[in-house]
Amino acid sequence: MHARKNSVPHVDPSDSMELKDLFSRTVSYLRLSLTDRCNLKCLYCVPEKDRSECSPRLDHNELLSYEELLRVVRVAVSLGISKLRLTGGEPLVRRDIMHFIDQLTKIDNLNDIRITTNGVLLEKFADPLAAAGIKKINISLDTLKPERFERITGKDYFTQVWKGIERAEAAGFSPIKLNTVVMRGINDDELEDFVRMSQETIMQIRFIEFMPIGSSSSWDKKAYMSSDEIMERIGEMGELIPVSKGKADGPATMFRAGQGAKGRIGFISPISHRFCDRCNRLRLTSEGMLRSCLLDDRETDLRSVLRRGGSEQDIQQALVDAVRNKPKGHQMEERLKNQGENCHGRMSRIGG
Ligand code: 5AD
Repeated sequence: MHARKNSVPHVDPSDSMELKDLFSRTVSYLRLSLTDRCNLKCLYCVPEKDRSECSPRLDHNELLSYEELLRVVRVAVSLGISKLRLTGGEPLVRRDIMHFIDQLTKIDNLNDIRITTNGVLLEKFADPLAAAGIKKINISLDTLKPERFERITGKDYFTQVWKGIERAEAAGFSPIKLNTVVMRGINDDELEDFVRMSQETIMQIRFIEFMPIGSSSSWDKKAYMSSDEIMERIGEMGELIPVSKGKADGPATMFRAGQGAKGRIGFISPISHRFCDRCNRLRLTSEGMLRSCLLDDRETDLRSVLRRGGSEQDIQQALVDAVRNKPKGHQMEERLKNQGENCHGRMSRIGG
């Protein structure tokens, strides 16, 4: 099923050009999904029927070109976007990505560019990314067990990912942030191992609540674990000491697992403690649709604006419209009650 497009009402262009929504939230963070392609097929991302065969993918001309993306980012920065994250699919599989990143880093007033990757290609890319001036990397890793990695991701690449993490550390990315989606019955028996890793290394491990995204992904109510439950489980290992964090650090609540811990653990709770009231994000999907809420299928078609020869003002207007119509909050609790009904976009196109 396709997401509804163009269904966001238009806002009067005489309103001031700034990325502020109707609930006084200012949007300063843009997430770009560079491709829907990925070298893994994670069970929470790829619908079950596509895991065993080739997943359908967008044609190259359905993706925004690098020139189009750069144009959008320049306009977005002029409207106050100061933080950018490259996501996917897997961003590092897009051809010539370093060329694109080099161009991005030349944009004035854009000093915070980050990337989320599955780590499979990080051994090759860690050094060039560091050299380009990217300072922060998030790596998605849901298990520390090689055989389980294959079960979750469909690919036997654990060792490769681990080498990528080591390479990123050596390249100076610090602290490395790991994103771990916690799924009951799938990886929840590893919570203690992840916590131990946060005690022994300077990594930041962030436990993410499993969200129902994608109409036929393997999301299952029984597999969902709230942050409170996760915290209760790991609380048995010792005291969790809250740590403060920077303004640009995102929605995780961070802790040290004991006085001597070198790293941190964090909880990202989009469902049980939603952070919609503080949400400062806008997403651009790999197909060029602006999406103001991960969990809401309404999108603004920016690609059409670009391809019908839209001016800078037209791009501005699309960005302003998308932000002005950002929903107050997502409806996930309600959706959780009627299992099966969720948001339809595919995570690999929307960008995580
Ligand atoms: N629930 C929670 N997190 C998810 N991610 C992808 N799909 C889901 C889901 N259904 C995570 C990825 C990645 C981050 C950007 O989003 O693991 O680390």
